[in-house]
Amino acid sequence: METTFLFLSSLFLLFSFSSPQIIQAGFISLDCGGTESFTDEIGLQWTTDAKFNYGEISTISVANETRKQYTTLRHFPADSRKYCYTLDVVSRTRYLLRATFLYGNFDKNNVYPKFDISVGATHWSTIVISDANSIEMRELIFLASSPTVSVCLSNATTGQPFISTLELRQFNGSIYFTQYEQQFYLSVSARINFGAESDAPIRYPDDPFDRIWESDSVKKANYLVDVAAGTEKISTKVPIDVNRYEAPPVKVMQTAVVGTSGSLTYRLNLDGFPGTAWAVTYFAEIEDLAPNESRKFRLVLPGQPDISKAVVNIVENAPGKYRLYEPGFTNLSLPFVLSFKFGKTSDSSKGPLLNAMEINKYLEKNDGSPDAAAISGVLSRFSSADWTQEGGDPCLPVPWSWVRCSSDPQPRIISILLSSKNLTGNIPSDITKLVGLVELWLDGNYLTGPLPDFTGCMDLKIIHLENNQLTGTLPASLANLPNLRELYVQNNVLSGVVPQDLLSNGLVFNYSGNYNLHRGSRTMSHMYIVIGSAVGASVLLLATVISCLVMRKGKRRNYEKEHIVSVPTQRLASWTSDDPAEAAHCFSLAEIESATNNFEKRIGSGGFGIVYYGKLKEGKEIAVKVLRNNSYQGKREFSNEVTLLSRIHHRNLVQLLGYCREEENSILVYEFMHNGTLKEHLYGPLTHGRSINWIKRLQIAEDAAKGIEYLHTGCVPVVIHRDLKSSNILLDTHMRAKVSDFGLSKLAVDGVSHVSSIVRGTVGYLDPEYYISQQLTDKSDVYSFGVILLELISGQEAISNENFGIHCRNIVQWAKLHIESGDIQGIIDPLLGNNYDLQSMWKIAEKALMCVQPHGDMRPSISEVLKEIQDAISIEREAETFRKGNSDEVSRNSFHSSMNLGSMDIGRVESFLSIDQSIAQPTAR
Ligand SMILES: *[C@@H]1O[C@H](CO)[C@@H](O)[C@H](O)[C@H]1NC(C)=O
Ligand SMILES: *[C@@H]1O[C@H](CO)[C@@H](O)[C@H](O)[C@H]1NC(C)=O
Ligand SMILES: *[C@@H]1O[C@H](CO)[C@@H](O)[C@H](O)[C@H]1NC(C)=O
Ligand SMILES: *[C@@H]1O[C@H](CO)[C@@H](O)[C@H](O)[C@H]1NC(C)=O
Ligand SMILES: *[C@@H]1O[C@H](CO)[C@@H](O)[C@H](O)[C@H]1NC(C)=O
Ligand SMILES: *[C@@H]1O[C@H](CO)[C@@H](O)[C@H](O)[C@H]1NC(C)=O
Ligand SMILES: *[C@@H]1O[C@H](CO)[C@@H](O)[C@H](O)[C@H]1NC(C)=O
Repeated sequence: METTFLFLSSLFLLFSFSSPQIIQAGFISLDCGGTESFTDEIGLQWTTDAKFNYGEISTISVANETRKQYTTLRHFPADSRKYCYTLDVVSRTRYLLRATFLYGNFDKNNVYPKFDISVGATHWSTIVISDANSIEMRELIFLASSPTVSVCLSNATTGQPFISTLELRQFNGSIYFTQYEQQFYLSVSARINFGAESDAPIRYPDDPFDRIWESDSVKKANYLVDVAAGTEKISTKVPIDVNRYEAPPVKVMQTAVVGTSGSLTYRLNLDGFPGTAWAVTYFAEIEDLAPNESRKFRLVLPGQPDISKAVVNIVENAPGKYRLYEPGFTNLSLPFVLSFKFGKTSDSSKGPLLNAMEINKYLEKNDGSPDAAAISGVLSRFSSADWTQEGGDPCLPVPWSWVRCSSDPQPRIISILLSSKNLTGNIPSDITKLVGLVELWLDGNYLTGPLPDFTGCMDLKIIHLENNQLTGTLPASLANLPNLRELYVQNNVLSGVVPQDLLSNGLVFNYSGNYNLHRGSRTMSHMYIVIGSAVGASVLLLATVISCLVMRKGKRRNYEKEHIVSVPTQRLASWTSDDPAEAAHCFSLAEIESATNNFEKRIGSGGFGIVYYGKLKEGKEIAVKVLRNNSYQGKREFSNEVTLLSRIHHRNLVQLLGYCREEENSILVYEFMHNGTLKEHLYGPLTHGRSINWIKRLQIAEDAAKGIEYLHTGCVPVVIHRDLKSSNILLDTHMRAKVSDFGLSKLAVDGVSHVSSIVRGTVGYLDPEYYISQQLTDKSDVYSFGVILLELISGQEAISNENFGIHCRNIVQWAKLHIESGDIQGIIDPLLGNNYDLQSMWKIAEKALMCVQPHGDMRPSISEVLKEIQDAISIEREAETFRKGNSDEVSRNSFHSSMNLGSMDIGRVESFLSIDQSIAQPTAR
């Protein structure tokens, strides 16, 4: 009965995208137990949770509470399970989450319930009902880190868990940004409107984010008591300049209290405290002060003398009147019973003033089970089944009904209990990623295919796979599981021979009922008996199985052979250029002179040399790179190295066609790339104020990452590029990207001498760890690639003296500063306009930051980066269909313009294969 609210969010999307008056974008208001959608008197649009088919609905009637959403509720059995609502959110966006509870004696028990509520794996609060007729409310501010958020009710200590409303409000800006928000939620403790004109709270539509600003005149136990004599309310009708989103609503700022006798004092209980608080006070001068008057005061907190050092002077901080000043503390230790005082300074003529205040408690996030990712892979295979819909963390606060977890702080899944669930298809391989698994029960299903390799689950004790339709052989690796005690595979269609090691003592092992699975045969006669007793058809079957195995084996051997041959290994370096079949093509100088018309058209230059355009006799266009430094290796070693490089073939690597080594000239011949370098398209003269659109940039990143992945994983030994940068990513006529110049640094360095300690690379792209340690790894390329991703996002050069402000010299520091403070907009290339999806942008931005981590082992592999880019592309594609109509035309235009650039006008492609002048030989910083 627990179910996700996908349907709701799609309904919601429908609202926000098709309704002409989009008044509540970013709001979800669930009327739990409600039977129909409605709009309430303040304009909030409520939807029912009717598709949530767990729990039961009750209607209640409470005196003086007429709001429709409080006439129903949903309650759940008081069992050991959790009941989760899953709401769709936009990752990397801040939200206010509010849950409310009005008991109303729904169970006619008059026993006030007490139960827990959690957000994902994090215990949020214990709901303690103490009055049948008043609403309990909990609010939480969080930065979404995944596309959904789960709110789970569980563990009734008394009575039944229930819920009246669940509300989600999307924030717009960053007033609630904290440097701790990756690890902590903000749990709202107090949000007070001082000097309020009535008891009614101020909320939507006065507050566009529907925060509830409680009136300070409400009479509640331990709420704003001990008020100092001389405290007076003041108000104004003049609009207050609040000057930023998420500031308190103007209406809240138009009222205040003043301490006419020189001080304001209050005491109130803070839910959830003692703890660390985010506390902000809001001031606006709304009284007329004569020129000889001043208002200065200090905050006094018992036991915290340091706090009182700062003097609040509103007018000085918000010059003029009617303007917001919002000093606060982002990490303040507060007690449960908070007494505070604002006292005027001795040189102030007016007493203190206070308009509003917010106090939130830091609530530490629980990361939940480390198995969450693996198990969600399992879920996705069976996503239509009920048991996949329980929501929340697999283990916390209580496990799903079909798993058991260890009791570690970060619990592992130790049992999977999915007997007789009508499962079909293969056993999901993600199950083998559950490294803590002890028991696996998948018996009595319709599972097919082979047994997976359980080697990763070394704790496995009990495996139940009986009564399925599993095929293939019993993997011998099962015998390597040191703790395996029981293995049930009877009544499947397994075949082959039972591994001897499984037949040893101690293991409870049942493999009967597998027609083609046989006990290991030591003697041929036993084999004959088996075959002899089988019917003809099965002999044939057996024969086929064996021949397939043989063929497979043969194939693999062939493949391995090819594999060795096709890959440039160091061993192959002993092959010489005398071997015509394997050597790189050796051009004569005359050939090259003729192709380039005596080096007529220069199309690029850089640290390695100058690049010329050329055309071979048969019409093939080439790029000819004349290497500058003539201290390369001897001719033979040079051609060996070049031969190795020319053997690296990949569609995303620029092909080296051959070389020429004559008369002191070292020349490399490459395929010609019509559209020049990525660098030119991002910020070179070719952009003409237009630029390649975001999806194209993502595709270029994908292409380049594939090329690099091949260098890192497809070549033995690994080829490290060492000099990745946007000017080494070249674009063909279709704007597909290829990586160029791989292996060249090595050609230049290792050949000269064996001083491999010379750091090579380009300033701005150079891995700082490599620079310090001089240990080159594939992660150095990942660093450089991260810089390229940042260039793609921002359209900024890697190094700039002007563009990054005074604090940053390079793109990495600059982007880090913005991204980590949640301000991605600040770095997005303005040329992209609005034609991108923020989620795909975040994905790339976050991965880019991972790539430029100071330490190599913290960086992802290029394959992980590639996967993220591909995810971003599919997100972007989806989003693009939404934007179709307004932006599609724009992006197609810019795509055409880039294609036209290179198709004919070669003269304008200034720096083909260019290498920056900024190449750092030993001078890299
Ligand atoms: C309901 O409101 C009326 C009038 O406002 C008041 O007299 C009464 O005490 C209230 N009842 C409750 C239960 O709060
Ligand atoms: C609920 O929580 C209480 C206190 O945390 C605990 O003692 C109790 O065992 C829990 N009940 C269930 C069913 O998990
Ligand atoms: C959100 O921010 C945009 C500008 O970034 C602004 O136009 C819009 O009104 C804001 N929405 C709310 C509800 O404040
Ligand atoms: C300010 O000046 C007025 C007269 O202009 C005087 O009455 C008042 O006492 C002065 N206030 C203070 C605090 O000096
Ligand atoms: C607040 O400060 C303390 C001590 O300086 C620190 O340990 C803690 O991590 C900070 N942040 C939070 C959210 O408590
Ligand atoms: C499995 O399928 C059968 C027949 O369709 C159905 O009766 C049974 O309830 C299903 N079991 C589960 C656990 O879904
Ligand atoms: C093995 O499984 C078969 C089929 O379910 C059953 O009949 C037999 O009793 C089992 N043998 C043992 C030793 O458990």
